Amino acid sequence: MSEVIAIEGGHKLNGTVRISGAKNATVALIPAAVLADGPVEIFGVPEISDVEALAILLRELKCEVKIDGEQIKIDPSHMEDIPLVSDAVNKLRASYYFMGALLGKYKRVKIKMPGGCYLGPRPIDLHLKGFEALGATITYHDDTYLLEAEELIGNQIYLDFASVGATINIMLAAVKAKGKTIIENAAKEPEIIDVANLLTKMGARIRGVGTDTITIEGVNELHGTFHEIIPDRIEAGTFLIIAAAAGEKIVVQNIIPQHLEALISKLKEMGVQMDVVGDSIVVYGKEDDLSAVDIKTQIYPGFATDLQQPLTALLTQSVGTSHVQETIYVERFKHCEQLNKMGANIEVKEASSVIHGETPLHGTRVQATDLRCGAALVVAGLLAEGITEITNVYHIDRGYDNIDHKLITLGAHISRYEIDDE
Ligand code: EPZ
Repeated sequence: MSEVIAIEGGHKLNGTVRISGAKNATVALIPAAVLADGPVEIFGVPEISDVEALAILLRELKCEVKIDGEQIKIDPSHMEDIPLVSDAVNKLRASYYFMGALLGKYKRVKIKMPGGCYLGPRPIDLHLKGFEALGATITYHDDTYLLEAEELIGNQIYLDFASVGATINIMLAAVKAKGKTIIENAAKEPEIIDVANLLTKMGARIRGVGTDTITIEGVNELHGTFHEIIPDRIEAGTFLIIAAAAGEKIVVQNIIPQHLEALISKLKEMGVQMDVVGDSIVVYGKEDDLSAVDIKTQIYPGFATDLQQPLTALLTQSVGTSHVQETIYVERFKHCEQLNKMGANIEVKEASSVIHGETPLHGTRVQATDLRCGAALVVAGLLAEGITEITNVYHIDRGYDNIDHKLITLGAHISRYEIDDE
């Protein structure tokens, strides 16, 4: 059996939606907590399946874990150096943050190769290069990495690509290394700053996060603390797109507008009417035709790769031809085939797509092939005439906190039910 979300399109949405904590910060903050020698309390945790998967891994390490709504309390005081080789590791790619955290804590870690959505080849060579630069030797056998270091010694590390994961993972090991580590060509995503804020509150010494050069002075001890997660800029962006697609007047609350500058400017270029009011954005439903635009995904603060998929669903309603070029994940176009089943007219080319609008969409059964494809299909389902059934919704539940409940509150006609696996 698997779950399906069914959406009856054509209903105008109104009201207020509150954005949850950032998934891509949360999945790094939780492993980072094991570096402390006392309890770490994190607030603003989204209710997503990735958090449950990480809690399983924490308990395998003998951490005490309490999840109460949007709060997680992790006490690593009595944790043990245990290999992470259960199936739980494969539930999410971000399990790999335990590599950096456990290497930093125990100078060794044994962990199964992580899983995650299929977005084309997703190597971790830059992570491993960073760990080796800090003094770790790495062996790989039977799908399992073993990283060991006599000592972790600070070093100068240049990232060939400004990788989010590698930047965070290297930081998690370097905070306990002896001496200074400099990460050059570091990624600048807000989620990296959030992880650095937690580490700093634990006693780490980190400078330059949010720029392309991060300097870390290793320390011997890291203590427990409290932390509030930043809002999820990708969930927020998804709801801005939903509001532009199917809203009359929607207030998207708990946003840091600066984190969404690239999307906001593109939506305005399309003709979407929005007002930024403090930590909220008010989106007014489309009165005139939407204009076609061209998108090129970039590292932060450029246009986020995670938002090109949901925006593609909206671009099917723009008059004219839009172009999306991927520079981060060249294969991130599996949503196009699903959207075309609904009546879209999208051509997929080398690391790019061409969207011919405006095309009316009609409901049918479609498949969420990955997390943000699922989001694109939700946008399309709200727009389409008739019922859209989205299968493999577990992808959506990995990264969106109660998306159906939030949409029903806005007036969407959504239901969730089980079907036999085909
Ligand atoms: C993070 O993935 C996010 N995931 C992704 O969000 C996001 O799309 C991506 O950053 C880019 O912003 C989390 O934070 C959990 P990268 P990450 O390392 O860290 C190549 C979502 O939908 N690369 O910046 O894996 C890699 O192949 C997810 O929420 C190497 O070549 O992204 C890719 O082409 C999807 N070697 C590019 O860099 C490495 O060692 C970007 O990867 C690491 C990465």
